[in-house]
Amino acid sequence: MVAVAKSIDIDALKRKAAARALDYVKPGMKLGLGTGSTAAHFVDLLAEKVRGGLKIVGVPTSEATRAQAEKLGVPLTTLEQEPRLDLTIDGADEFDPDLNLIKGGGGALLREKIVAAASTEMIVVADESKRVERLGRFPLPIEVVDFGLKATTLALEAAIKGAKCSGPLKLRHKTDGHVFVTDQGHLILDAGLGAIPDARILARALAEVPGVVEHGLFIGLARRVILAGSGGISVVERP
Ligand code: A5P
Repeated sequence: MVAVAKSIDIDALKRKAAARALDYVKPGMKLGLGTGSTAAHFVDLLAEKVRGGLKIVGVPTSEATRAQAEKLGVPLTTLEQEPRLDLTIDGADEFDPDLNLIKGGGGALLREKIVAAASTEMIVVADESKRVERLGRFPLPIEVVDFGLKATTLALEAAIKGAKCSGPLKLRHKTDGHVFVTDQGHLILDAGLGAIPDARILARALAEVPGVVEHGLFIGLARRVILAGSGGISVVERP
């Protein structure tokens, strides 16, 4: 019972953060639409504004977000048609004091990073449970191709060690037991690192491993975090 009440509270905080993010949306904007439960609140609230006459266009970061936005009547486009976006609103699994992020808990990290990098600004919407002093408590998602998975895993273990981190790499499965496959047809290894002493060094090391498509460290991409906590909403700016 207590656990249910807590998850309802967190969901209410996520919706509050998403609602505040609407303040940053201006008519005519091209928006990146994130993935996950917090971003889903944003898409829901954005759809209400669209029904009220707001003119925007969005690029979804996953098939799930595409389906939600289409169902709610949010106009969509693609990065092929609009390669530069004004603003991306997305959730995160963790953020640190420099607003570096871990993302990909929902498996959409590749499209999320491409869309965020194509945007003039990225704003993260989050509840207070996502704030950490040092990244790494949340298992770091690493998107890999299936060819050579064992070799890639070994090379990743060495890269992780070289970046002074340690912890198991686990192939992600769905709750039904099947291997999780991303929207781009890749696999995800979740690295349970506990703490990442230097996220930049680790990010570089992971990117150099053949077979790695992308990793969930978002360095220097988020400009601000809209943070909903028990004390209200605050906006944390990148230092
Ligand atoms: C999706 O792949 C992730 O990057 C999400 O943005 C992240 O997992 C946050 O999700 P929630 O808003 O559901 O916590």
